[in-house]
Amino acid sequence: MHGNEKTKKALISGITGQDGSYLAEFLLAKNYEVHGIVRRASTFNTERIDNLYVDSHKENAKFFLHYGDLSNSSNLRHIIDKVKPDEIYNLGAQSHVRVSFDQPEYTADIVATGTLRLLDTLHDYIVASNKEVKIYQAGSSEMFGSTPPPQNESTPFHPRSPYAVSKVAAHWYGINYREAYDMFVCNGILFNHESPRRGETFVTKKITRALGRIKYGLQENLYLGNIDAKRDWGFAGDYVEAMWLMLQQDKPDDYVVATGEIHSVKELLIEAARICELDWEKYVKIDSRYYRPTEVDALQGDATKTKDALGWTPKTDFKALVKLMMEHDLELARKEALLKEDANEKNK
Ligand code: NAP
Ligand code: GDD
Repeated sequence: MHGNEKTKKALISGITGQDGSYLAEFLLAKNYEVHGIVRRASTFNTERIDNLYVDSHKENAKFFLHYGDLSNSSNLRHIIDKVKPDEIYNLGAQSHVRVSFDQPEYTADIVATGTLRLLDTLHDYIVASNKEVKIYQAGSSEMFGSTPPPQNESTPFHPRSPYAVSKVAAHWYGINYREAYDMFVCNGILFNHESPRRGETFVTKKITRALGRIKYGLQENLYLGNIDAKRDWGFAGDYVEAMWLMLQQDKPDDYVVATGEIHSVKELLIEAARICELDWEKYVKIDSRYYRPTEVDALQGDATKTKDALGWTPKTDFKALVKLMMEHDLELARKEALLKEDANEKNK
């Protein structure tokens, strides 16, 4: 950065989530001042970002957290007024598809109306401050739903869950605020992306965590739903760069972010089991509880536009991703087994 360039400020909703943690790291490395919105919880929910925390009283502090929630407009306005961000990344969501069938109204309130609250609050702030603030909206390949692959920016949406319907609404709110008020809104349409930090109830992490524990004798079985579903899985660390690149362009637009590779859940299971030298068929059982009332059978992204316009390409392929996650979770299980052994010894 040149001496007279001012430090950019980013505000991230969902900073405690998988993507929020990678994005915060990425922006701090680019010398941004990073502000995150965290929900008040009775237990600590900042595990993924604890390594980034610097006492905010210190002069060199560039990482700040603010209590907030996408259900609360006045609180969002207060945070924006205080932070005065240059860029906002709206990653906050009830992001579990299966859970959205159990909590449809809550999901719509946070994912759809929450995005509207943020856009409208930001619009008010821009009018009052006369400042340009760019905003990234975390859209999803789930929006394509039952439309057959490959899917790109022109593919029609056919959402298949309350989560996906809410993301479609958020996507169109973004476009409407862009067209109506000339706001710099970018919709990223991101296909599934994973990492060792992935929430434990998403299928990739559920598989690698369980196989690691089975390998070390800590767990007997793994219960799964539809293992024939196909996804385009990439690495979250690669995908946050694409979010940032979208906001560095001259004009706002919408972009698909994907690897272009498609694999079934069963293929993922086979690859992960191969790494830990386990016969997966001995341990995996199908439980209809994990089926969805309406499933998304196959997602495979065509990210040609993103590659051409942003110069972005994924660095991590399917096999490398499974290896990264499986090796991480084998190590985690090894430590867990050691702790258990220690505790057993002490109790003798
Ligand atoms: P995640 O790990 O589930 O993180 C979601 C984040 O949203 C967490 O920080 C969570 O806070 C926060 N949040 C939940 N409810 C909120 C509320 N009412 N107000 C404010 N924040 C709230 O999700 P992710 O995988 O990082 O995904 C990030 C975003 O991208 C989400 O919008 C997701 O829907 C979208 N997306 C994800 C993928 C993917 O494959 N990962 C693909 C496409 C789109 P707590 O920590 O307190 O729960
Ligand atoms: N979670 C889960 N648990 N999924 C299972 C299981 C299971 O036990 N068994 C089979 N599956 C299948 C699901 O039915 C789905 O077809 C596939 O595995 C992937 O499920 P998830 O890992 O839960 O991800 P998702 O594709 O539904 O949603 C994720 O990706 C979206 C982008 O396409 C989430 O991160 C969403 O927030 C994101 O928008």
